[in-house]
Amino acid sequence: MAKFHTIKIKDIYKETDDCSVITFDVPTELSKDFAFRQGQHLTLKADINGEDIRRSYSLCSSPLDNEWRVAVKLIPEGKFSSFVNSTLKTGDLMEVMVPSGTFGVDIQPEKSKNYLFFAAGSGITPVLSMIKAHLASEPNATCKLFYVNRTAKSIIFKEELEQLRNTYFGRLEIYYFLTKERRDIELFNGRFDDEKMEVLTKTFIDIPDTSEVFLCGPEDMVNYVSSYLVQAGLPKELIHFELFVTGLSEEDKARAERLAQQNVEGVEVTIVDGGKEFQFTMTKDYDNILDAALGAGADLPFACKGGVCSTCKCQVVEGSVEMKINYALEDKEVAQNFVLSCQSVPTSEKVKVDFDV
Ligand SMILES: Cc1cc2nc3c(=O)[nH]c(=O)nc-3n(C[C@H](O)[C@H](O)[C@H](O)COP(=O)(O)OP(=O)(O)OC[C@H]3O[C@@H](n4cnc5c(N)ncnc54)[C@H](O)[C@@H]3O)c2cc1C
Ligand code: FES
Repeated sequence: MAKFHTIKIKDIYKETDDCSVITFDVPTELSKDFAFRQGQHLTLKADINGEDIRRSYSLCSSPLDNEWRVAVKLIPEGKFSSFVNSTLKTGDLMEVMVPSGTFGVDIQPEKSKNYLFFAAGSGITPVLSMIKAHLASEPNATCKLFYVNRTAKSIIFKEELEQLRNTYFGRLEIYYFLTKERRDIELFNGRFDDEKMEVLTKTFIDIPDTSEVFLCGPEDMVNYVSSYLVQAGLPKELIHFELFVTGLSEEDKARAERLAQQNVEGVEVTIVDGGKEFQFTMTKDYDNILDAALGAGADLPFACKGGVCSTCKCQVVEGSVEMKINYALEDKEVAQNFVLSCQSVPTSEKVKVDFDV
């Protein structure tokens, strides 16, 4: 069930000129439902000018804080981020779904893991939560953060990061890169490119000693840094990423066009949700399971409908589907038949998907 809870805003403040940080007042009776792992996100819902708008925001607080905090960066003309940055105030109510998402790895206190993080702009949010959680709960863990921003003034959570660097002296290294402001050391000016990555992998990064890498930022940065690290010898399965928004690659466009031709009319779909089964027959009106189910009256979780947030994740337990795009699930989840229902086009006469997994 797409269960939203009405939660009061305990505090909202401007972290930078164009980024608001919201703390939610999650009541004690809901704190179990709202328990989260570092890297997960909340789906927020608001009625903006009569339109039901849902967006995902990564929790930037640590699971150990007993606080639920997100940072919303203003996107010019963006519907939800403009609303948050200009209208929302302390004491207002907001519809919030329980945390979800698979970005992040479990805490392993007995291990000595070395984490690398690459973040750009608001991509720092899940990364901040992870850094706090791993450093606090894994006494031998180290973290290195490579963080790109436009200017020094636009660095989100600079103060908190500096405090963490002091608290965990020697276990947290932070390198800031600025794209619209020049500093004396050339290495720290501009985006990641071959020249920079070569220096980073020779001086600051020890590839064989790296346990996990997390990337969050624009798609081109994420793709570029991942493939550089793989070429430099880092096993692909140690690299995890989250995208906030995506453009479609030529391959994605071609797949989406091919799947648009798929005849889904008459496909019998069974949805398992909340321990109950719901059945309907696909019509020509919808090509994906999520929209068809919502159209048939089901109440299922979703946010972006664009294959990035994973809120609509379910598991195919009978029949088959093909996804138009998938920027949210990792290969091992796909291998276990997990799919994004908003992108899933049936390719068999009967399909059964389970949202309770
Ligand atoms: C899992 C997940 C976690 C996220 N966490 C955060 C977070 O912690 N903080 C945060 O600020 N955002 C986060 N986002 C992005 C957020 O959900 C919204 O997409 C973003 O706030 C824009 O929404 P909007 O309604 O203001 O813009 P819209 O009205 O949806 O979009 C307006 C225009 O801006 C473009 N656009 C949308 N998002 C971006 C972007 N991030 N960068 C550049 N262009 C964009 C759109 O393509 C569109 O053209 C996350 C997204 C996902 C999927
Ligand atoms: S609703 Fe975001 S991936 Fe499907």
